[in-house]
Amino acid sequence: MPSPGRSAWASRACGRGAARRRALLVALAACLVVGSLPRRCPGPRCSPEQGLRGAHGGPAAGLAAVAATPRAAAPPGQGALWPEVPAYTLSDGVRMPKIGFGTYRVQPGEQTRRAVAAALEAGYRMVDTAQVYKNERDVGQAIRDSGLPRESVFVATKVWDDSHGFEDAQRAGRASVEQLGLEYTDLLLMHSPGQRMVETYDALLRLREAGVTRSVGVANFGIKHLEALRRSGRPPPAVNQIEMHPIVYPEREALVEYCRRHGILVQAYGSLLSGKEAALAHGALVELAAALGRPVGQVLLQWGLSRGFQVIPKSIDPIRMKENLGALGVALSSEEASGLEDAMQDIGSLGVYWNPVDRAPVDLGENRQLEAALLGSMPSWGPVDPADLLELPDSVLADAAREANRATNEREAKQTASDLLETLVPVGGLLTLVFFAAVVKVLFFL
Ligand SMILES: NC(=O)c1ccc[n+]([C@@H]2O[C@H](COP(=O)([O-])OP(=O)(O)OC[C@H]3O[C@@H](n4cnc5c(N)ncnc54)[C@H](OP(=O)(O)O)[C@@H]3O)[C@@H](O)[C@H]2O)c1
Repeated sequence: MPSPGRSAWASRACGRGAARRRALLVALAACLVVGSLPRRCPGPRCSPEQGLRGAHGGPAAGLAAVAATPRAAAPPGQGALWPEVPAYTLSDGVRMPKIGFGTYRVQPGEQTRRAVAAALEAGYRMVDTAQVYKNERDVGQAIRDSGLPRESVFVATKVWDDSHGFEDAQRAGRASVEQLGLEYTDLLLMHSPGQRMVETYDALLRLREAGVTRSVGVANFGIKHLEALRRSGRPPPAVNQIEMHPIVYPEREALVEYCRRHGILVQAYGSLLSGKEAALAHGALVELAAALGRPVGQVLLQWGLSRGFQVIPKSIDPIRMKENLGALGVALSSEEASGLEDAMQDIGSLGVYWNPVDRAPVDLGENRQLEAALLGSMPSWGPVDPADLLELPDSVLADAAREANRATNEREAKQTASDLLETLVPVGGLLTLVFFAAVVKVLFFL
């Protein structure tokens, strides 16, 4: 019979053994549960780095991060939100009203707040602003004050040329959202090709992936700039915002065709000829407007719509705002549209706007590796017309082609590594399980 001392020791030892076994079993159960959980971001909002480096599970992780943001909780812009304004579906699936409200030269402060409030009141559900207009804060304020649900107003803004570069452009995009006070933008544009354009474009893609913007686009890009993006292995932008009206159309027809072929929506600016009275008084325009029984502004805007462009007329006058929305109801035949283009060529040029489309050089910037996650959900370029290739100088073509090949190789290598990891993780889990089972078994036999 065991002595009382030995018995106390034995029962203590036995108790410790049981406790150890219990602890091990709990640890094993925890491992099994954790191992069987889908790998995803731990919090409601992943940082861009978490989402993009695949730290939580490969290329799709970034998308999971975006899905966790408030914008995805109530998918905006699917048509029903602005039943009264017809919308385009962009190549990335995002919907955008066909007519929006421009805010260039609307003074920051009271004038912007009043104008945007009046535009929303009139029925506009899309507002175009930019960092360089210095009125983002007031645009956001007016939208918030309107009481309209965030997802019912489509907001576009633009990264200005002095913030190009991978880091600076990301900071600038986030600063815009901060200024707007709206959590995200619906469309973030690069205001012009400027410098380091591919690098800057990568920053926009990354912001999209992080849920800072729903769509990315460019402005004032010519074929050579778009073609350089394509050859660098980047996905196409959803829109290209350019000066567009009957006077400039013939010289931009090739660019429009290029955009159409690659699913890039042309956003027309200057649709009202920038309000230039002499141009608005052009005989052919006035005649056509009289024949249609419509104001000239409506005819010009309908010209843009009939060509398949989005239009973003600006006005600080609530009466004109409403009048401009009436363009949606104008019936313009394709003969009338092309007749207007022909007739207005005698104006030559509006001479109001800058022209990076033709003048900006193609400056790719630093050759960055493009993460596969950035490409996962983006549309691809459609067929390429060999005629486009002639537009680029040889040196740019060579650089862009080299970069495109390098990016593709790296992407493929990364994808292979990620696939390998995906395969190895379950095998590792199984081995861990076997190991723990062996340890438990040994402990039970001790
Ligand atoms: N990405 C770029 O580089 C770029 C460049 C320029 C513009 N944009 C964007 O495109 C938007 C539109 O372009 P925009 O503002 O330059 O020019 P716009 O819309 O062609 O013309 C605006 C001018 O037309 C007048 N106007 C408005 N409605 C009118 C009507 N029914 N009849 C006659 N005149 C009328 C306005 O005066 P009131 O205000 O007095 O009514 C204003 O002076 C801008 O606001 C901006 O958002 C982008």
